[in-house]
Amino acid sequence: METLRVGVIGAGWMGHVHARAFQRLAQHWPDLPVRPMVAAVADAVGPAAEAFARSHGDPTAYADWRELLADPTIDAVSVTAPNFLHREIGVAVAEAGKHLWIEKPVGLSAADATAVRDAVAAAGVVACVGFNYRHVPAVARARRLIAEGAIGTPTHAHAQLFTDYAAHPGSPLSWRYAVDRGGHGVLGDLASHGVDLLRFLLGDIQALTAQTAIHIPRRPVAETQGHYAVLDVDDPGLSFGEVENEDYVVALVRMASGVLSVCEADRGAVGEQNNYAVEVHGTKGLVRWDFRRPGELQVSAGEQYANQPTSTVFSEPGDGEYAAFQPGAGLAMGYDDTKVVEAHHFILAIAGQPAELATLDDAVASATALDAMVTSHQTGQWVSVS
Ligand SMILES: NC(=O)c1ccc[n+]([C@@H]2O[C@H](COP(=O)([O-])OP(=O)(O)OC[C@H]3O[C@@H](n4cnc5c(N)ncnc54)[C@H](O)[C@@H]3O)[C@@H](O)[C@H]2O)c1
Repeated sequence: METLRVGVIGAGWMGHVHARAFQRLAQHWPDLPVRPMVAAVADAVGPAAEAFARSHGDPTAYADWRELLADPTIDAVSVTAPNFLHREIGVAVAEAGKHLWIEKPVGLSAADATAVRDAVAAAGVVACVGFNYRHVPAVARARRLIAEGAIGTPTHAHAQLFTDYAAHPGSPLSWRYAVDRGGHGVLGDLASHGVDLLRFLLGDIQALTAQTAIHIPRRPVAETQGHYAVLDVDDPGLSFGEVENEDYVVALVRMASGVLSVCEADRGAVGEQNNYAVEVHGTKGLVRWDFRRPGELQVSAGEQYANQPTSTVFSEPGDGEYAAFQPGAGLAMGYDDTKVVEAHHFILAIAGQPAELATLDDAVASATALDAMVTSHQTGQWVSVS
């Protein structure tokens, strides 16, 4: 069995999730021909790298990601740094000849995602993008049911991604709220997942029209960078800065098949905690999935049309990679598990075996749709997505 030495760049939430995923692979797939080992971490914030090292078997900790890439013993790299670094680091990982697992949205724009895709193609390394909701067994089942015609011909769909990490006015002005570091806010952060789910279930996008909004235009300035940090807005010592990018987006999306979809995302939706859902309607039924009940798929299928019941179907062995986690139906998997599945496909691809990755082509397609949403908001026009 070959050991793959992995480096993680960005020791925040996702850095830890990637590291845990690598470490859990052997528990779920003991016969993998390649076994990853988290051997290095790089983070610009020293305590973040040190905490990561304590949690994940004491890998070598670097302050500068370039030092990690210069380490010839590192074979593959997870890029879990903020969006504005994806392009520079992603291209450098490929040019260093290392395999790349990079978080969505892969940069700030389609141009950034394209630059990473081209560098990966030129280097001939394996690359995987963090569109992990594809890997939920219930979503895999929904895709299979749609492809089999169980809901008839798809007619329309809705992807909704609502959460509240940005709902508090005291949530600090981190990289997420600046165009040059966070790109287009909730578009890259959440709508990217919605676009990917729509593409995964229904195929390519042809055109779209969209509107966006900023709900909280000013936030307190602070060093704190965490996803869920909150500051006391009554603290007289705080200063405030402008939010530059979108809290909310709603897009009407025409798929290449002609199916109309709505993609809606809100990072500051009070009362909504990671309420991510997708539903697809067809001439004979529907499938509906909600991230917070990940092991359940609502399905209506048959020949009854009006008054046709909708049932809840529990995930079971045979749905995606469910069988690697649980032996029988109805045992829900969690968020981290989706990343374990993603890591599995990444490692399979590195081992030269068939793998179902979200690729950099998928990242470019998603980013192209997100750019089109911004253009459509600015122009008030439908925008072609090719
Ligand atoms: N797939 C998903 O479901 C999902 C969920 C959350 C975040 N993400 C993505 O993961 C990425 C990171 O998000 P997060 O929530 O973990 O953010 P985070 O703020 O928790 O962590 C980012 C880390 O990067 C570090 N960093 C900043 N500059 C750096 C540099 N120059 N070199 C090395 N490290 C640096 C920060 O210090 C921090 O520790 C983002 O691109 C985000 O879109 C994906």
